Amino acid sequence: MLPKPYYQDDAVTIYHADCREILPKLTNVDLIPTSPPYNCRKSYPSGDEWNWSEYYLWMLEVLNGCYSSMRDGGVLALNVPGVIRWQADHTYADSWTTYDSNYHTHRNGKQVIGKGRVEPLGFKLYLMMQEIDFHIREPIIWVKGSNGNAIASDYKMGCDSDPYMRPVHEFISQLSPQYMFTAIPTTPSILPSLQYMGVSKCH
Ligand SMILES: C[S@@+](CC[C@H](N)C(=O)[O-])C[C@H]1O[C@@H](n2cnc3c(N)ncnc32)[C@H](O)[C@@H]1O
Repeated sequence: MLPKPYYQDDAVTIYHADCREILPKLTNVDLIPTSPPYNCRKSYPSGDEWNWSEYYLWMLEVLNGCYSSMRDGGVLALNVPGVIRWQADHTYADSWTTYDSNYHTHRNGKQVIGKGRVEPLGFKLYLMMQEIDFHIREPIIWVKGSNGNAIASDYKMGCDSDPYMRPVHEFISQLSPQYMFTAIPTTPSILPSLQYMGVSKCH
């Protein structure tokens, strides 16, 4: 049973709850716009500092909930960056994909120990969503703006041995729970198992 709405009028009903509890109780949803935590130490009440395996398991539960609540051809508009990096203080920095504790470099004039803690967050979520059976549609590009620069102005280009940039855009991925054009045969899965992300599939 759905909980008591946080707000309700003739046009809208709003619930304030953990999406993992609400989503399985909804059906025939047309559109889910969402911007999930990126596991990068923001001060959300829900927390934002997990081991990557825990994070992907949590996102798998959220994405499965989205999938099961949507109508055919509905759209999940998921806002995620392709790659995130430089979380030297993250408790689980060791679980970042390219972590190297022996590497020294600089960021914004300060020395940072440990090589670019690069996690291809959005790209891994794309793999996960394809394995869940979402149909991946063209993304919307959200241009966040940075005084006309193509690279966020507070990020430098790293150094020769470790170039990096922070773009001023993010994807708003668009996904549908079923293939829209059933006349086109679907290709067999060439995806690595979700084990690759250290998680097991929920359904
Ligand atoms: C990247 S922020 C998005 C912020 C939002 N787009 C806005 O502009 O206010 C992620 C949000 O997801 C919320 N959140 C985290 N876990 C959640 C969950 N299980 N169910 C619902 N919301 C959750 C966090 O509290 C945070 O507000």
